Amino acid sequence: MKTILTGIKPTGQIHIGNYLGAMKPAIEACKLSQDTSYLFIADYHALTATHDKATFQEMVYEVAAAWIACGIDPKKTVVYLQSDVPEIFELAWILSCFTPKGFMNRAHAYKAKIAENEQNGKKDLDFGVNMGLFNYPVLMTADILAFDAHEVPVGEDQIQHLEFARDIAQKFNNNYGETLKMPNPIKKGEAKLITGIDGRKMSKSYSNSIPLFAPEKKLRKLVMKVKTDSLAPEAPKDPEGSLPLEYFKEFATDEEVKIMLGRYKEGVAWGDVKQNLFEVMNREISPMRQVYDDLMADKSSIDAVLKEGASKARERSQDVISRVRMAIGKR
Ligand code: ADP
Ligand code: TRP
Repeated sequence: MKTILTGIKPTGQIHIGNYLGAMKPAIEACKLSQDTSYLFIADYHALTATHDKATFQEMVYEVAAAWIACGIDPKKTVVYLQSDVPEIFELAWILSCFTPKGFMNRAHAYKAKIAENEQNGKKDLDFGVNMGLFNYPVLMTADILAFDAHEVPVGEDQIQHLEFARDIAQKFNNNYGETLKMPNPIKKGEAKLITGIDGRKMSKSYSNSIPLFAPEKKLRKLVMKVKTDSLAPEAPKDPEGSLPLEYFKEFATDEEVKIMLGRYKEGVAWGDVKQNLFEVMNREISPMRQVYDDLMADKSSIDAVLKEGASKARERSQDVISRVRMAIGKR
């Protein structure tokens, strides 16, 4: 029995980095597991960055619709909003009392903000840092530990957070005995890091992403913009570090990749490579896009899934929080 759990924060359009790094591995793992799995929308995490009411609401729906559209089995998989599970926030407070402040000083999102302030010559290095951003990894730890999760599929950038979750659980257990379940670690090579169309890490914050549910025409346009060298069509192409090939490998069959590698060797026009890339991507995405568009056009079915998800999620988290309350000696 393996509990799979992962979350996405609704801070922008879901892109293929999110899909390939977290959503697809999670959904595949859910299919293999006999246990209930938990896929959620980390909406209160998004509040560290998004303070516009309408944007916040729309993005929550987008992430919820994306989870459903990616093909979950509603009998085995619970889709819910983080904010619908109050137990998570109680646990987050308790865990914050076991988290050395130094851990959070080392968290990379916080460190990146400090570095940015330093670079911009700001006197106050904590400029623009709210406590939500600083405590972010503690809340993420609570998200995981409140469900006794075994496996947490995430992209490479989240490995540090998963390590914090393990360290914090250990600190709690060292004090009270085995109470919290430690999630399995992820080793570096196991998690993905998908590159953006400009060659940097694909991220919602860099405007370099391929939105997973971009309309077909837009998808094609973005694929055509993927960075390549400027070699002539007949020149052989180096597969090493080739961005179109990186994406192609994620969506094509082994046989198709073999053929593509042959074409690289012989010399192929980038336009042809990209057309082929668009086709394999669209083949996988278009059935999901249809479901996504339907869900976004009538959000009542998303609401229904989230409502049911909230009550199922709380069943599990209430068990865990009871254990925790007992362990700390709450009457
Ligand atoms: P973003 O960086 O675009 O804001 P999130 O932080 O919301 O994305 O990430 C949601 C999930 O998607 C996490 O598990 C994260 O590791 C994964 N992810 C995000 N970007 C990438 C990427 N470029 N490659 C692989 N996984 C990614
Ligand atoms: N921090 C994750 C991200 O930025 C989102 C997230 C919040 C999450 N809580 C989680 C991922 C719990 C996995 C498990 O992408």
